[in-house]
Amino acid sequence: MIGVAIIGTGDIADFHIEAYLRFPERCAIRAVVDLEQAKARQKADKFGLSCEALADYRELLTRNDIGLVSICLPPALHAPVSVDFLAAAKHVLCEKPMAPTLEECDRMLEAARRGKATLSVIAQNRFKPDIMRTKRFLESGALGRILFAQANSLWWRGEKYYDLWWRGTWEKEGGGCTFIHAVHHIDLLLWFMGDVEEVTATLYNRSHDNSEVEDLSISSIRFKSGAPASLVSSLVHHGEEQSFIIDGEAASIELPHKIAVSRQLDNGYPEADEEKRLKLEALYTSLPEPQYTDHCGQIEDVLSAIESGQTPLVDGQAGRSTVDFIMAAYQSAFTGKPVRLPLSPKDPFYSKEGIRANAKKFHQKTTSLTSLPSGGISVGGSL
Ligand SMILES: NC(=O)c1ccc[n+]([C@@H]2O[C@H](COP(=O)([O-])OP(=O)(O)OC[C@H]3O[C@@H](n4cnc5c(N)ncnc54)[C@H](O)[C@@H]3O)[C@@H](O)[C@H]2O)c1
Repeated sequence: MIGVAIIGTGDIADFHIEAYLRFPERCAIRAVVDLEQAKARQKADKFGLSCEALADYRELLTRNDIGLVSICLPPALHAPVSVDFLAAAKHVLCEKPMAPTLEECDRMLEAARRGKATLSVIAQNRFKPDIMRTKRFLESGALGRILFAQANSLWWRGEKYYDLWWRGTWEKEGGGCTFIHAVHHIDLLLWFMGDVEEVTATLYNRSHDNSEVEDLSISSIRFKSGAPASLVSSLVHHGEEQSFIIDGEAASIELPHKIAVSRQLDNGYPEADEEKRLKLEALYTSLPEPQYTDHCGQIEDVLSAIESGQTPLVDGQAGRSTVDFIMAAYQSAFTGKPVRLPLSPKDPFYSKEGIRANAKKFHQKTTSLTSLPSGGISVGGSL
């Protein structure tokens, strides 16, 4: 039985608690922790948990009955708190994004090595049926040579979203929509397409005045495979219609799910090849779906990894790769030049000091509230 603690009992903690409660024979939530102890107590009561509600996570570092912690804290706290637990040989499932700097990601990876502990970073969309199948479909080689990919990480947030104290600052949030929202799509893009060689990006803040960070970014990417890709990350799209399009020589596949196959007429114009499309659809639907989805899928994967001593599907290195891409995109936007990956410790966007010196503040944050009225949150957009 794996003893679990939830660190930070805000909005996203609910998704972790609900998931752990699905596996009562494999794990038990033994503590919930929040700086505001009353909030931790309320969260325990909401889910009928008969566990401790604490204000200071450090009380758990030496406890033998805690084996795994979910870090559900604001991004700037992911690294220091994860490092404390990993160094104490506790397994860590950290919310996305892994940490606001690569320097901190590297400290987390080092602490996991030292503590011989499992580190996983949330990328719950990998555990959606169509996304898992698309990955397996790409692995089958059915598309032939990949020619081009597009990821559209389109979200919408009103101005009040940035009134929360930790949002909208380079220091505490670590970045704007590219870092906080597109991190999901960047994880998937890298999972689908492999390592990135170079990125050129531009950033904008089009309609969020209470925020230093971007609400729109446009990236042009070249993968090591030679394939190019585009990524749009936005908080100004009404409807949040997110999508992927991957074009191969043999066919194109999209999310939300669609497969298309064209063949050429004598003049080079296209007509649909229905027979080939049906064959590829049959292959696609024959591919296995995940048994558990979203946060529940990832938490089941992490429990299995701990039980079996294997590496989880989304390990610390995968979490770091998304941060590496995002920091390279920021470096490109603020220096006006293409940036090759991976960033090195000498690059300005590797460390907090470098980011502080080089990231432009689009606006000054003037409103800062300790909490926002609760109204539910959306975590997946339309994917
Ligand atoms: N996976 C997803 O789809 C998804 C969606 C939303 C948020 N998130 C991520 O989850 C994390 C938390 O976001 P949220 O929306 O739940 O934020 P939140 O502000 O609602 O919750 C954070 C909680 O941490 C507590 N806290 C702050 N400092 C603390 C400390 N030192 N010790 C203990 N508790 C402390 C706060 O009191 C608060 O209750 C962020 O990294 C965010 O990016 C992920």
